[in-house]
This record gives sequence, structure tokens and C-alpha cells, in this order.
Amino acid sequence: MSDHALGLLRALAWLPVSSPLLKAPLLDWLLEEDSMTARFERHCHQVTVEPLREGFISAAEVGDEVALLPQESRYWLREIVLSGDGVPWLAGRTVVPESTLQGPEAMLQNLGTRPLGRYLFSSSTLTRDFIEPGRVDALWGRRSRLRLADKPLLLTELFLPAAPLYQSLAAEGLQ
Ligand code: PHB
Repeated sequence: MSDHALGLLRALAWLPVSSPLLKAPLLDWLLEEDSMTARFERHCHQVTVEPLREGFISAAEVGDEVALLPQESRYWLREIVLSGDGVPWLAGRTVVPESTLQGPEAMLQNLGTRPLGRYLFSSSTLTRDFIEPGRVDALWGRRSRLRLADKPLLLTELFLPAAPLYQSLAAEGLQ
């Protein structure tokens, strides 16, 4: 299941925010500016994060996304599945150039089961360069290049079939 989710995440095809496929209720989720974890918490009792993989990888292992980050020899990779009340809702993949890990951002290596958003959105230095919606099969996702103290990282998220996003779309007759 988790491996499958991460495989789908890697297969997301990117769309411009102006794409007619992106109806308002969908954009409302995909362009969420604040923590997705906090938003999910409004739809369940407990959000949990299971880290699937955390460690350094080479530029070659990063794949195409490497073009969106500075060229370095190593990148920190974090892959997780986030669940709402035990049901998988989101697969997340964060790629962090090693140089971003200098200073307080070294903490990114020690998140474990703590949601990334709790760390990012508590930082006064967080900015976002861009956000891009994506689609694979009937699933939606997004990727964002974020900066902590001006140092970049790339976060890709795939909303799994049980995510509340799809209930919102169904309620609007969009799915
Ligand atoms: C993570 O902990 O890596 C994480 C959590 C929530 C997200 C994305 C990533 O929406």
C-alpha cells in the first residue's frame, strides 16, 4: 500500500493553476497555504505520520525533481504516509539539499513521527517559491518549493482516495 502510494506520487503529472480541470473546491485544498496537517485535523480526531524512509540519497536517486533544487552531491529524503484516525490520507515526499540542513534546519533530519508542517509552519522564516497542482489517475497532488531562512526544499504530496478532499469534491458533485 505505502510503496504503491509513493509510486503514484512519483507519477504525478503537473498542471498549471489555470487548468480548467481545477475547479474551485479542488483548488481550495490544493492551494492551501497553511499546514495541511492542521487542515486534516479539522476532519478527524488524530493525525498520525508514519515515516517510511528517511536518509541521504544521491542527486541521481532524487530523479527529475533535482532540476528544481541546487545541484549538490547529497539530499535528505523523507517519505511518509499521513493517516487520519488510522486511515491513510496522504503520501508525502520531502527532498532537502544538504546545504539547507545547516543551522537550526538540521532538525529536519530528526522529525520521525512529528509532522513536517508543525516544524515548517512554526518557523518565522518560511516562504514559498511556487506551488504546482498534479494529477495521477483519479488522484490529486501538489508540489511546492519552500524556503526556510531562504534555503530551499521540495515537498510533494499525494492525496490518497480516503482523504477528505475527495468528500468535499463529491459533495459539490465534482467526483
Ligand atoms: C511530513 O511529516 O513529512 C509531512 C506531513 C504532512 C504533509 C506532508 C509531509 O502534508
